[in-house]
Amino acid sequence: MKVLIVYFSLSGKTEKMAEYIAEGVRFSGQQALVKKISDIKSADDLVNYDGYIFGSPTYHRDMAEPMKTFLFLAKKANLEGKLAGAFGSYTHSGDAPAIIFDTMQYVYKMEPFELGSFNLKEAVVETSEGMRSCQDYGRVFGEKVGT
Ligand SMILES: Cc1cc2nc3c(=O)[nH]c(=O)nc-3n(C[C@H](O)[C@H](O)[C@H](O)COP(=O)(O)O)c2cc1C
Repeated sequence: MKVLIVYFSLSGKTEKMAEYIAEGVRFSGQQALVKKISDIKSADDLVNYDGYIFGSPTYHRDMAEPMKTFLFLAKKANLEGKLAGAFGSYTHSGDAPAIIFDTMQYVYKMEPFELGSFNLKEAVVETSEGMRSCQDYGRVFGEKVGT
């Protein structure tokens, strides 16, 4: 099984989360690919994965602008029924992952990951606790996509 992780990150925290989540997916025995939003050129780049995890930090109580554009592009891929997760780094309100997760569930009609969306305070991202919590999210996602 293959999991695609697509993220946007301005100052690198959400990028770090993406890498740790991918490690967790691999711990579960599944494959994980990590791509920056700018690497996704068309909906065709999203086909042939079994699960999808999208990441954006919260800026101005919203997802980052490139993630919004990406979500319109992703609408053109048929992701219905695929397992969906979302994550992001934040400092105080952390709105983005929940909004992305809602879009994946209600607009794309994907299967919502049982752990929901995953928000991590930026001060924690590069601690061992932060690394572990990202890996755990990825591992459980990988276990779920493998069933
Ligand atoms: C201009 C600006 C606006 C921000 N607005 C929010 C916000 O509304 N809520 C929040 O929780 N964090 C906010 N943050 C904090 C970022 O989400 C946080 O720094 C995050 O770790 C950045 O992730 P990145 O390194 O992946 O870009 C803001 C940061 C900046 C620079």
